[in-house]
Amino acid sequence: MNTFDENDQRHHPRPDASDFSQMVNAVLSRRQWLGAAGAGMGLFLGGHGLAQAAQKSAATSTEAGPRIGFSPIAANALDTVTVPNGYQWRVLASWGDAILPGGSAFDPVTRGTANSQSLSIGDNNDGMSFFSLGADHGVVVVNNEYANYEYLFVNGRCSSLEDTRKAQAAHGVSVFEVRRSAGVWKLQPNARLNRRITANTEMRLSGPAAGNALLKTQADATGTLALGTFNNCANGRTPWGTYLTCEENFNGYFGSAESLPDNAAFKRYGISAKGAGLNWYPFDGRFDLAKNPNEPNRFGWVVEIDPMDPASTPIKRTALGRFKHENAEVVVNADGHVVVYMGDDEKGEHIYKFVSSKKFDAKHPKANRDLLDEGTLYVARFATVDGKAQGDGEWLELTHGKNGLTVEAGFKDQADVLVHARLAATVVGATTMDRPEWIAAHPTQAQVYVTLTNNSDRAVKANQAVNGPNPRAKNVYGQIVRWVPKDKDHTSTQFMWDIFALAGNPTVHEDAYAGSSNITPDNMFNSPDGLSFDRDGRLWIQTDGDYSNAKDFAGMGNNQMLCANPMTGEIKRFLVGPVACEITGIAFTPDQKTMFVGIQHPGEKLAPSHFPHGGDAVPRSSIIAVSRRDGGVVGA
Ligand code: FEO
Ligand code: CA
Ligand code: CA
Repeated sequence: MNTFDENDQRHHPRPDASDFSQMVNAVLSRRQWLGAAGAGMGLFLGGHGLAQAAQKSAATSTEAGPRIGFSPIAANALDTVTVPNGYQWRVLASWGDAILPGGSAFDPVTRGTANSQSLSIGDNNDGMSFFSLGADHGVVVVNNEYANYEYLFVNGRCSSLEDTRKAQAAHGVSVFEVRRSAGVWKLQPNARLNRRITANTEMRLSGPAAGNALLKTQADATGTLALGTFNNCANGRTPWGTYLTCEENFNGYFGSAESLPDNAAFKRYGISAKGAGLNWYPFDGRFDLAKNPNEPNRFGWVVEIDPMDPASTPIKRTALGRFKHENAEVVVNADGHVVVYMGDDEKGEHIYKFVSSKKFDAKHPKANRDLLDEGTLYVARFATVDGKAQGDGEWLELTHGKNGLTVEAGFKDQADVLVHARLAATVVGATTMDRPEWIAAHPTQAQVYVTLTNNSDRAVKANQAVNGPNPRAKNVYGQIVRWVPKDKDHTSTQFMWDIFALAGNPTVHEDAYAGSSNITPDNMFNSPDGLSFDRDGRLWIQTDGDYSNAKDFAGMGNNQMLCANPMTGEIKRFLVGPVACEITGIAFTPDQKTMFVGIQHPGEKLAPSHFPHGGDAVPRSSIIAVSRRDGGVVGA
């Protein structure tokens, strides 16, 4: 979601010298940043930097890391997609494309009805996965994060029950089969696995919080049956073949005409009578907080979906904690425990991981189906040493009765800890981060990367002093931080971290806001968000930033996608999106010859985009397929 803080960030004045003096004491000079990885990482790494240490463990890599073979492209502000020479792209699917029987073609005049929307691809495609069904056949599962009311509704407003149902149907998840013929992937309408999951689809709550009083409502006395999922940001996929969709800014959909009593949990999660203007509660009492104060507790979870069974019930996995989830990066640890890394995208919130109690059983895929119901949730504390862009860290357990999570501290039981994971994270002393977005684990090495997209509150709010992994006041550019678990064991409670890239603008700034030494006038970007490794270990970075192309952001152009070499720190620009879009969502075919990329909200807020059809067409969020003209591996 483009949650860029307009008031604070798009037009904020340059940070003044007093902002810097505090910061400069805490960070190295710009040119030392990248080199920091190589120095003084004694504790677990025997004097080697993170990249070098990880390198030693990799049988499949060379010192140079993966080959990045394309010629990087320049930034631009065009209303199209730009890819390197030798590459091509075409639209695979767009908001409003019919996928289910009875669906109708997108109507640019009415923009559809509640019914037609429920049979078509939702709005604002975000995180996605590709599940292969053969060399030229597969199923795409994609989140539909939110709706652009300025295009969904002719008058731009949700002002009736029909409008509410249409908006709810534009949210959730779209599942559709695709086939490749003559090198071109095409959407298959009405195929067997096609499915829409919306804000009204029946779901099951499972895990330690299921059935707890906090999850019971008038409509569901069991606290185990929820309706729908919405604000599905990024995603994950499990090695047992399921898709994970992550509920992010669920709070804004709730509201009330009545005033509400003070509630610390509502405050921390941003739940208020005012809501965020989505305007569902006047027409659907489920979203009226005065009537249903526990309904918001049933959102903010990771939801597991079986894409191979369109009749299956999606399951909200409460053991993974309730917050504003970005993605869910699943790693099978060497000992078989399943580890899920997760970010909570809000200024000053935290990074979490879940470790399953039971082990993954590769021989019996079905035996793994409930692995995400039982385990331990942790939150990260990054130790900060002044003057260092690296350090050690610790995972703090969020288990009732431990680390101060007691009845006296306000937590009745483990369900209470999970439903109020943010409050628990504060009690145990988690580090406040610059808006954790996606987390990506290296495919063969024990290295994990996170995008910290930006944070206008850093060094402004009392609880958000600058710290090692979040070193800049009023951070408009964002950074990518990485860590290596102790002994390459993802279940370890200890890790070492450093900063992989500090985004910035070296054409405007000469200090830490110029970015780390691997940021140049040719590859600069702001607000890294989507992040994913391909099988060869290329790190793909997608941005959701300020596309004004002016002031702090001069020369950066539209939102974009870059490819990084985790070994050398090299970063090359690969793709530039159309006007006023965000690039989010990435998936590969198993042969890595096609990369699917999400173009979200082109023309948001009525900016002048007509992507993808041009002319005077209504702009539509779309998934594109990118490939090489010579049929080679993307990126190589
Ligand atoms: Fe939906 Fe944090 O982006
Ligand atoms: Ca995002
Ligand atoms: Ca974002």
